[in-house]
Amino acid sequence: MPLTDVKKVEVAHKQAYLENGLALSVITLKNGFLSVTLTNLGATIMAIELPDRNGLIDNVVVAYEDINDYITNRFYLGCTVGRYANRIGNARFQIDGQTFQLSRNENGHHLHGGVNAFHKKTWKVESIIEEQDRAGVVMSYFSKDGEEGYPGNLQVSVVYELDKKNCLAVSYRATTDKKGPVNLTNHSYFNLAGASGNSVTDHLLQINAKSYTEKNDQGISTGKILPLSGMILNFASLRRLGDNIEFFKADRGYNHNYVLADTQKDMLNYAATLIDPCSGRYLKMLTDQPGLQLYTANFWDNSPGKKGGGNFCRHGAVALEPQALPDSVNHSHFPNTLLEPNDVYLATTVYEFGITTEQS
Ligand code: GLA
Repeated sequence: MPLTDVKKVEVAHKQAYLENGLALSVITLKNGFLSVTLTNLGATIMAIELPDRNGLIDNVVVAYEDINDYITNRFYLGCTVGRYANRIGNARFQIDGQTFQLSRNENGHHLHGGVNAFHKKTWKVESIIEEQDRAGVVMSYFSKDGEEGYPGNLQVSVVYELDKKNCLAVSYRATTDKKGPVNLTNHSYFNLAGASGNSVTDHLLQINAKSYTEKNDQGISTGKILPLSGMILNFASLRRLGDNIEFFKADRGYNHNYVLADTQKDMLNYAATLIDPCSGRYLKMLTDQPGLQLYTANFWDNSPGKKGGGNFCRHGAVALEPQALPDSVNHSHFPNTLLEPNDVYLATTVYEFGITTEQS
């Protein structure tokens, strides 16, 4: 669809009620081509809808059929992950000689901010942005000193903003009153075929990375950054996601962190492209973060409850999570993730959607 057809960017704000009585905000940003639905529970993306090359509109992020499933959100669908995305080895780190013990929620390690982390919190809807060229929403959350074991009262906000060029920008901001680690990301799972799609193995993926962070058999960073050249993991050129996916026996697919190439600090750098050759839909991602976690829904267990039909099948979707290098807080040679009281944490990712003209 030519961009000139996009006339107006709009926002709609409704409420939905959960079975526990909680009133949620459901906010939809629209520009005539793309529609993005968000909720303040976990500051979560619940839908991103756009047409395919035949004009058929469908949702390209995986969602739960029942909105109550977002209370626990066992697959981390679409949510904001924090205070620290990915794994922290032994759920422990040191700052200036002091040890901090975090909650352990994966084999003695700390995953995605812990047991009752940001994805389970009800965020405050601070404001709605409605302007000529962009529509958006600002949500905030106050994380108390000691929550999940982290030091410092952390004031966090996320801005979701849709423009006329079919770009969804997601920007995080955080401040603290004690030195501590911050690493925020969004955990959307994409299937560009639409809501009834149950495999992404035919999607094409490119990741702008020449190296990756090695992990041990428990999924924890060893601290080594290794070259991708000649590796099955390499997505330097656009290629089929399903090729060799079975190679990773223990992981049952891709679950690796890429070190993005050619990154300039505080700039939006090109990170990845995902294409569904069949529908023609594509996603291009830009981020100011140094790493990208690729996860192909390896432990989805065929259970029901997926919106749009079908089950949560293994390799049914792909998560592309822009973030710091995993466990940076325990590897001083990785880019710093410690936020100081007088500093501001800022991170932005842009998700651009469209339709390729090439036929499959
Ligand atoms: C990340 C991790 C995966 C898994 C998912 C959430 O992508 O790397 O191992 O924990 O989050 O299910």
